[in-house]
Amino acid sequence: MKDTYHREINYLRVSVTDRCNLRCIYCMPPEGVQWIPHEDILKLEEIETVVKAAALIGVKKVRLTGGEPLLRRGLDDLIRSIAGIPNIDDIALTTNALLLPFCVKMLKESGLDRVNISLDTLRADRYREITRTGNLNGVWRGIDAAFESELLPVKINTVVIRGFNDDEVVAMAGLTLEKPLHIRFIELMPIGPSNSWTTGRFVPAEEIMSIISTRLGQLIPAKKLVGNGPAQYYHIKDAPGTIGFITSMSEHFCRSCNRLRLTASGRLRPCLYDGHEVDLKTPLREGAGINEISNLIMKAVALKPDRHHMLDGWQDKRGMSQIGG
Ligand code: GTP
Ligand code: 5AD
Ligand code: SF4
Repeated sequence: MKDTYHREINYLRVSVTDRCNLRCIYCMPPEGVQWIPHEDILKLEEIETVVKAAALIGVKKVRLTGGEPLLRRGLDDLIRSIAGIPNIDDIALTTNALLLPFCVKMLKESGLDRVNISLDTLRADRYREITRTGNLNGVWRGIDAAFESELLPVKINTVVIRGFNDDEVVAMAGLTLEKPLHIRFIELMPIGPSNSWTTGRFVPAEEIMSIISTRLGQLIPAKKLVGNGPAQYYHIKDAPGTIGFITSMSEHFCRSCNRLRLTASGRLRPCLYDGHEVDLKTPLREGAGINEISNLIMKAVALKPDRHHMLDGWQDKRGMSQIGG
């Protein structure tokens, strides 16, 4: 399906929970956020209906996000039912990987294709500082588990924050010389708690590229990796992995935006940074069928703005974990 600006919309990001087992400093305030009451979270069958309705009008790619999606009970059942929907040809997950070793086989057998893993540092003390609670070894066990179960390509999401982890970009990019890992550096966006302190913390992708190419060698544009997101990929000569950049701020990619977001509370959000949402939960609970939901999805697509306006500031009370990365 096409939107008002002739963009093909074929990618649905589904937040299956707002809960998380970490408290990343740029994502949540120290005291955490008020969880959405259980009854307000979409049920698995309701999510399945939305995905069916979306597939009917052209969605082919689904990504499950959170909070931390692995906290959602029945995730394997949801994946199995999405995998059975005609037209859906890619099911991926964005996770902090801590729970992955315990469920990876089940998810793979249910039909999950691949995972993107959030990891902002290679230092255990820093990992704890950035996530406020996490254990770095647990993430590596999760990464190993993803490789063992062939949830490929394994991509790593690294949000670069000046003064926190910007001194590690070479070490992180260097991982791609040893392993078929795909490290993606993400520009910090002024969302949620980071809204107030992003200005001084922001590192433009261009700066990261320049540091990496000076230290590791030329960044050669890489063949497009399996994926539906905005990252642009490069590699160092002969490296098995790639280095990607997600330039949400410096070179925003809205012109080729292909996605919609379903929040955990059942609202369809046409743009990460735009407050307009279409409520699907109420009609679903009032008995709306797939065709009605498809019509509402088209309504949300019609609301998609041409671009984000992040520099105007974050207008939402909710943060990334409540909207779904
Ligand atoms: P692939 O299909 O593997 O390309 O996935 P992806 O990059 O779309 O998914 P992922 O959840 O790993 O997204 C990585 C990061 O990209 C997110 O955490 C955001 O920081 C950023 N991102 C994804 N979609 C959008 C978007 O629509 N707008 C903006 N500004 N940033 C986005
Ligand atoms: N800016 C950029 N990326 C963010 N993420 C969370 N908050 C922000 C932000 N303010 C990323 C996480 C994770 C994904 C779900 O969203 O690092 O990879
Ligand atoms: Fe959890 Fe992701 Fe937010 Fe970190 S960024 S607290 S892993 S939802």
